[in-house]
Amino acid sequence: MMRRMSLNRREFFVRTAPLGALPFLPDKCNDLFVQAEEPFLHGVASGDPLARAVILWTRITPSPEAPEVLRVDWVIATDPELEHVKKKGSVVTSAERDYTVKVDVEGLRPGTTYYYRFTSVGHDSILGRTRTLPEGSVERLRLACTSCSNYPYGFFNAYRLIGQRADLDLVLHLGDYIYEYQNGAFGDGTALGRLPEPDHEIVSLEDYRKRHAQYKTDPDLQEAHRQHAFIVVWDDHETANDAWTGGAENQQPESEGDWEARKQAALTAYMEWMPIREGSHDEQGRIYRSFRLGNLVDLIMLDTRMLGRDQQLANPCDPAIADPERQLLGEEQETWFLRELTKSQKRSTRWRLVGQQVMFGQLVNATEQGVCVFNTDQWDGYAAGRARVLAAIADKAVDNVVILTGDIHSSWAMDITGNPFDPTQYNGASGEGSLAVEFVTPGVTSPAIEDPLVAAALAQQVLATHPHMKFVELNRRGYLLLDVTPERVQAEWYHVVTLSEPLADEDLAGVFVTESGTAHVVAGDEPTPPKPDAPALAPELVPVA
Ligand SMILES: [Fe+2]
Repeated sequence: MMRRMSLNRREFFVRTAPLGALPFLPDKCNDLFVQAEEPFLHGVASGDPLARAVILWTRITPSPEAPEVLRVDWVIATDPELEHVKKKGSVVTSAERDYTVKVDVEGLRPGTTYYYRFTSVGHDSILGRTRTLPEGSVERLRLACTSCSNYPYGFFNAYRLIGQRADLDLVLHLGDYIYEYQNGAFGDGTALGRLPEPDHEIVSLEDYRKRHAQYKTDPDLQEAHRQHAFIVVWDDHETANDAWTGGAENQQPESEGDWEARKQAALTAYMEWMPIREGSHDEQGRIYRSFRLGNLVDLIMLDTRMLGRDQQLANPCDPAIADPERQLLGEEQETWFLRELTKSQKRSTRWRLVGQQVMFGQLVNATEQGVCVFNTDQWDGYAAGRARVLAAIADKAVDNVVILTGDIHSSWAMDITGNPFDPTQYNGASGEGSLAVEFVTPGVTSPAIEDPLVAAALAQQVLATHPHMKFVELNRRGYLLLDVTPERVQAEWYHVVTLSEPLADEDLAGVFVTESGTAHVVAGDEPTPPKPDAPALAPELVPVA
């Protein structure tokens, strides 16, 4: 159900411009809009922007009488009225790809905001807005980071808030975009009317397609996609909980069949339904990739989940955690990653942002067996792989590495070093010995510690026992805003005030900064102001109920 919104006359003309033969009929315009939206129930989206290209995405909801193969026209312009058209074209879609539509528009200009729309079976999609990556000298970038949007757990207010920020260059989604469970297994959507579809654990291609389709009907998620280009990576729940290359915690071969078949079904639906650039056939399933944002940022996106990960160890005290044979990225991706870091350093890009899934920094727990890692699914469970990354950063003098993480449904900022508990190697107060920093985004809805008092006490305990941790919040949901200049990266955590109703209000929960050349997180003073020259959001052309 879309929210009730008023429509002004200018928006009416934007919306109906291509239906030029239709007269202006104010008393019937609502019907017209509702009708015009029908083939585009899942909104529009854009993603994987480059300096001169971007992926545009939509999905046609075909009527039963529709032909098997549908033609879809698209247009992209520099103004919301679509008067200054820069590119247009046609593609076809069919049941073979679940009527999803993906266009890689090329020949665009760097650092430019565009507006786009699809047309098919006589109807127009809602208007979308996107932005290409900048080139050359860049003074400031603003990015939102997000993860872990579980439909039954509540309304996607964090997405709505992201959609309202006109000055974002980009949105990073760091995984758990969908969850695979039936209702009640992880969140009960009964009271909120947010039951997962289909209401059983998803296993087949049809299941994964239906779940993606349901998420893409959410008006808040649609709005975030409609206003911003996304760069996405999957985590485990796009397939099944605690996935690794050979299986998953939430995969029972006796009742759910072959893991490889399930994984392929999940990844096929992901590629169909997400605005991600698809590789050539032999690259299917390879989502690690990098992006250049002028001389300010190189963005390196990793897959710590599906490609090279060995199985998680069951025992968090298992000495095999240190086994150098254990892989998280896999050899090929790890080699690529380290090469990307050094290449970026050599060309003197100011910042290296690394978008990835699971917490990189050390998180330990006192147990009867001694001090053990908290969670073997994180980099802690693959200590040798982490050590190799840090050795490369140190050996090649790679500076200004900022790791961006999802997965853990909570808000964190920390220094990254080989052994933060050894005062001869690392000084938590000065940051001496630190090699990088990490910022962790909370979930859109997924929970960490539900009791706020327990969460606060636990956060204090973690801060007191982990010298590299500078900010820990374990209760609230929201998103992470990054403001990047040549001098510093500022991270701001915005938490939503409720999950139980659609309400786009937020609290600023934390401001932390890393200055260029320090690899050290310190508390910041003030939130950054919005960019003064943000391009207009795409008008709210939403059908009135
Ligand atoms: Fe999650």
